[in-house]
Amino acid sequence: MSSLLVSNIGELVTNDLSLGDGSPLGLVSDAALVVDGGQVSWVGRRDQAPAADSVIDVERAAVIPGFVDSHSHLVFTGDRAEEFAARMAGRPYSTGGIQSTVAATREAPDEVLTANVSRLVNEMARQGTTTIEVKSGYGLTVADEARSLAIAADFTPETTFLGAHVVPPEYAHDPSAYVDLVTGPMLAAARGHAKWIDVFCERGAFDADQARAVLAAGMAAGLEPRIHANQLVQGPGVTVACEVGAAAADHCTYLSDDDVANLRDAGVVATLLPGVEFSTRSPYPDARRLLEAGVTVALATDCNPGSSYTSSMPLCIALAVREMRMTPAEALWGATAGGATALRRDDIGHLGIGARADFAVLAAPSYVHLAYRPGVPLVGTVHRAGRRID
Ligand code: NIG
Ligand code: FE
Repeated sequence: MSSLLVSNIGELVTNDLSLGDGSPLGLVSDAALVVDGGQVSWVGRRDQAPAADSVIDVERAAVIPGFVDSHSHLVFTGDRAEEFAARMAGRPYSTGGIQSTVAATREAPDEVLTANVSRLVNEMARQGTTTIEVKSGYGLTVADEARSLAIAADFTPETTFLGAHVVPPEYAHDPSAYVDLVTGPMLAAARGHAKWIDVFCERGAFDADQARAVLAAGMAAGLEPRIHANQLVQGPGVTVACEVGAAAADHCTYLSDDDVANLRDAGVVATLLPGVEFSTRSPYPDARRLLEAGVTVALATDCNPGSSYTSSMPLCIALAVREMRMTPAEALWGATAGGATALRRDDIGHLGIGARADFAVLAAPSYVHLAYRPGVPLVGTVHRAGRRID
């Protein structure tokens, strides 16, 4: 495989403390980067760069690690634009809307679901995302959850079994029988296609004991835990996340002081999903409170047709900076290295030596522009493992 020199980088974000300015972003100015065998093999000042088989001159643009979107629900069909419009007219968000996507998804042929994932994955790539996590959760039968995960696994190794998204209508009279189905036959059908086990621990979905049962069964089957926690109320989700040593607790919109301390002490990443607060007109979580307590904060889109139908990590960065009191540097770190930490990956989310060469060239001189110029398509070319993907 031939080597590639990316040269004339005005500002390179490496997220590597041993490189650059010593800040968490590991900034190198007047930089260059060499890719060999799909990995970063050299980083430094452009005037010291070694020769390579080919060269790209990025004309003093900023280069950042590809975004790691650690929370999405892409396997579905249809949309819920009318539900969104009703919310914007004053109706509150509720978990009930999930059922309409479940009904549509069950009806859809495999090709329709695959085409929808492909469309959204391409949308994400064009906006700088090079790694995605994808959940099931709109099938809620043994066969529909297994096929959702099989489809997701064609696009990413970061697949999550979310049979415990909501209780489907046919089990409304007996939710505990549904938990038995999820932890028994559905998990058995899903486990070969999934890395992660997840549960929506929330009012209107699953309570703490049901969440514990789902995560314990998944972990016993070899899956790693993550959780939807504290989205709508200050519920028990974060407590459960910390008990089981989840990689991440996602949403974290309503947190007690104990929740914040527990996240820090247990080393559970708080993944904030500002597209949800935007699209449900809810109060944004206070990222500053988490960061000042020493909690690791990641950002993700939660791309789904109900609570957050955005595929844009740049939008999430802009919202996190403006509405959640993050600095532009903290938000970019959360959208790259933070996402990688939430997926327990050390080969992505940074551009240190040996990292997978996942990067985006911005049509801007600095990463700060991602928040400073909200809504502007600033992502230029995008590479994964050194190959251009956008
Ligand atoms: O992460 N929180 C649970 N599930 C999704 C919403 C799904 C939907 O409304 O369709 C979420 O926000
Ligand atoms: Fe979600």
